[in-house]
Amino acid sequence: MLWPLPLEDVDPVAVHAGDERRSRHGRPWVVTNMIATVDGSAADAAGRSGGLGSSADRAVFRALRAVADVIVAGATTVAVEDYGPSRPAASIARDRRARGQQPAPRIAVVSTALGLDPGARLFREAPPDARPIVLTTEAADPARRRALESVAEVRAVGTDRVDWHRALDALVELTGATVVLCEGGPLTVGQLVVDDLVDEMCVTVAPQLLAGPGPRIAHGPASTPARPLVLDRVLCEDGFLFLRYLRDRTGS
Ligand SMILES: NC(=O)c1ccc[n+]([C@@H]2O[C@H](COP(=O)([O-])OP(=O)(O)OC[C@H]3O[C@@H](n4cnc5c(N)ncnc54)[C@H](OP(=O)(O)O)[C@@H]3O)[C@@H](O)[C@H]2O)c1
Repeated sequence: MLWPLPLEDVDPVAVHAGDERRSRHGRPWVVTNMIATVDGSAADAAGRSGGLGSSADRAVFRALRAVADVIVAGATTVAVEDYGPSRPAASIARDRRARGQQPAPRIAVVSTALGLDPGARLFREAPPDARPIVLTTEAADPARRRALESVAEVRAVGTDRVDWHRALDALVELTGATVVLCEGGPLTVGQLVVDDLVDEMCVTVAPQLLAGPGPRIAHGPASTPARPLVLDRVLCEDGFLFLRYLRDRTGS
């Protein structure tokens, strides 16, 4: 650990589990976890984020999943990264139970087009008592919605785009979530920034230069004003930096 105290051999699971995450806004705490190259690309040359990571990055990824009640991702990320149900290690599931959480976080996918395949492993391999959640809109195609309702909890939380405040309310109603982890992609994170819903931003800086057309970790319309952050922690391994920022709400 480089900041706030230089420490050797930090366990990311223990460090992230020890953080306080209490939203004061009558909604769940929202944390995002994203990786980018030093020159800012959030996707590798193949258009995925997997090629940017390392074993330490995967450890931080698992550590953040370990504290989340729900993992939210955009439909593109779920398809490109071939999401399946989250299956934490036995020790993590045990610690979650001890904290009063479900043994594994639920996965929630955001989509209006509902091009999700009901036969995809995300749905096929999910436990029947923890089916994935699909957050969609009233504009969604009724036949696609019906097909997904046989494998997921589907909620319309917006007219033509998901309203993130309503989406968080739906996650609370379905799961009692107090911590929601958004794993991207950039278009999804960008909306959370604009709606000022990001309480904690975890960013991995991968020691690579890539150039190319890859998106930034948050993309889309700009937030006005910019959202101030305070640096909470920096971990480092193998040249990767793991930055934890908190939304600075002192002025709001
Ligand atoms: N660097 C990282 O840490 C990281 C993390 C995740 C992903 N990625 C990369 O990012 C890329 C994908 O990200 P992306 O930004 O293009 O897409 P994305 O955010 O994963 O997904 C966008 C899709 O999500 C749905 N969506 C998002 N917001 C919505 C809303 N408010 N209402 C309704 N639907 C909504 C829409 O799906 P429909 O079209 O189905 O309506 C939209 O097309 C991939 O290359 C992936 O590998 C990188």
